[in-house]
Amino acid sequence: MNSMEIQGKTAMITGGASGLGAATARMLATAGARVLIADVNETAGQALAQELGAPAAFIKVDVTQEQEVQRAVEQLNNLHILVTTAGIGVAEKLIGKNGIHDLQKFVRVIQVNLIGTFDVVRRAANLMSANAPDADGGRGVIVMTASVAAYEGQIGQPAYSASKGGIVSMTLPLARELARQGIRVMTIAPGIFHTPLLGTLPEAAMQSLSEQVPFPKRLGQPTEYAALVRHIIENNMLNGSTIRIDGAIRMAAK
Ligand SMILES: NC(=O)c1ccc[n+]([C@@H]2O[C@H](COP(=O)([O-])OP(=O)(O)OC[C@H]3O[C@@H](n4cnc5c(N)ncnc54)[C@H](O)[C@@H]3O)[C@@H](O)[C@H]2O)c1
Repeated sequence: MNSMEIQGKTAMITGGASGLGAATARMLATAGARVLIADVNETAGQALAQELGAPAAFIKVDVTQEQEVQRAVEQLNNLHILVTTAGIGVAEKLIGKNGIHDLQKFVRVIQVNLIGTFDVVRRAANLMSANAPDADGGRGVIVMTASVAAYEGQIGQPAYSASKGGIVSMTLPLARELARQGIRVMTIAPGIFHTPLLGTLPEAAMQSLSEQVPFPKRLGQPTEYAALVRHIIENNMLNGSTIRIDGAIRMAAK
């Protein structure tokens, strides 16, 4: 089977300082990749890079700042693997107790989750296209992170769902275009994972979320997300689609 080897490759992970991105950074470093953790959280990012040792490095990047994204990609000599996990959530009803949905909050979520992902992808793909092709003609793999909210957004999630739906929707056109360069594009839509994003929830809320998962009745572990990233990188036939990793959860309206 022709597959992309992780050993010796260069990987960049946006949002790599925490949660799903941090688990992916650990997985890739353990598998022998050079890992660039790009995140707005300097303290957590530096700490993780230090923990992972020599093949890992951190760069402070806010994915909404074009120059910072450009600088991060330009400092790399080459790039084979991009995983985008930088993202934020917001919960606000269209017509809430305190008035209608704040427009700037909607713009902000789209800016970070969707436009931030697109900006990183366009620069990363351009750098990947300069790689020498492997036996299958492959030059790189891009894994983006959506959410099951792209399909079953709850009340209060119009902005978040729209941002993640945008990522799902651009997966195929990007894969189609980048096929010429031998760059694969995939998206993962996680259900509910145990990360700092959810860590602020009370225990009872975590319990109730776990109950909604048909099987297994628990939250996903970031290492399970990272294992899927690894499989996507190593299986050349995976291209142009979104994979749910969610224990069969279909979130209710609220
Ligand atoms: N945890 C879940 O249950 C879950 C479910 C579905 C989708 N997701 C998605 O997975 C991704 C990772 O989530 P997580 O749970 O690991 O969250 P997390 O908060 O632990 O990690 C997100 C990381 O993104 C970084 N980040 C935020 N804004 C940024 C910006 N503007 N520029 C650069 N970095 C930025 C944060 O500093 C943080 O390190 C997000 O896109 C999230 O929407 C998570």
